[in-house]
Amino acid sequence: MNILTLETTCDETAAAVVTDQLQVRASVVASQDDLHRRFGGVVPEIASRAHLERIVPVIDEALRRAGLKPAELDAVAVANSPGLAGSLLVGLVAAKALCVALDCPLVAVNHLQAHIYACRLAALPQEVFPCVGLIVSGGHTSLYRCRTPLDFELLGATIDDAAGEAFDKVASMLGLPYPGGPAIERAARAGDPRAYALPRPFRGDDQRLDFSFSGLKTAVRYRIAGPGRPDFSRIELPEQRLADLAASFQEAVVDCLVDKAFAALRRAGLQILCVGGGVAANARLRARLQEKATRQGVRLHVAPLGLCTDNAVMGAIAVERLRAGLVESLDLDILPGVVRQPAAAV
Ligand code: KG4
Ligand code: ZN
Repeated sequence: MNILTLETTCDETAAAVVTDQLQVRASVVASQDDLHRRFGGVVPEIASRAHLERIVPVIDEALRRAGLKPAELDAVAVANSPGLAGSLLVGLVAAKALCVALDCPLVAVNHLQAHIYACRLAALPQEVFPCVGLIVSGGHTSLYRCRTPLDFELLGATIDDAAGEAFDKVASMLGLPYPGGPAIERAARAGDPRAYALPRPFRGDDQRLDFSFSGLKTAVRYRIAGPGRPDFSRIELPEQRLADLAASFQEAVVDCLVDKAFAALRRAGLQILCVGGGVAANARLRARLQEKATRQGVRLHVAPLGLCTDNAVMGAIAVERLRAGLVESLDLDILPGVVRQPAAAV
């Protein structure tokens, strides 16, 4: 079977062709970073308009690379949740149109489950489920007990900013380009992670598997210029101070992510940790996770670099849904927000 997978949840227009044997026949990602850079973050209206212009060429290119005609597709899968409403709609409508034209099944993909599935694809033939899944991206920072690829139970999540969002906003304060994650990582290489004592909310409280990055962001802002200096945007930071701030901020985020991920493993009684999402590309996070996993005998699967940020290959999770008989009708809608269940009992 050849399955076309579409991903337009945020600011990447992506299409891939995967088989039911989980082979990747083609993968195309059209990044919108250039369009959003001057705003320092994703502008939803610009994102949806760019998806609209790009979705057909991106699908065409994926089919061309796979050497397939549209009629040779056996199913079309699309990420319909969670994400930006206008962006999600473009992918969903494109998928529905193809399903009508080709008379083939429509499969819904949950973007967060797909981020963890990227770890599974890389680990094959080794099984990664059941595991604790940590999703760290521009829109989400959540911990799940993942019983199967399709059965996730929320253990904890950020109560304000996502980790990637904090990277992007702090980068903007430091005068670094968007996306902020890679820029801060680069700047941090020359910095001292202990130069500034920054907050690590909920750290040491194993009962609470939540995150909060909003106060950390404010703390960085006050290190750039004190509360008495509201207009700090024109302050030129000396190079070493900037590097030290970047390194101290990155270390604080990494400390929180590593601590809570291992607390979640203890809570869930599991020894396998899967980490996906754009922030999982961060080398310091990857190194710290690996260090602790080795020490604690935990099996760690971090998504390979090419599958951390948004892509359509991880939409191969559609194979699991097809196997489970989960096919959608043309009434399928988008679900932009994360529906939060009550925190799991200890
Ligand atoms: O998963 P993703 O492509 O989109 C969402 O689903 O949100 O993640 C994008 C986020 C951005 O906030 C970006 O700054 C962050 O991932 N990111 C990084 C790195 N590369 C991308 N954060 C820290 N370090 C990196 N190397
Ligand atoms: Zn994502």
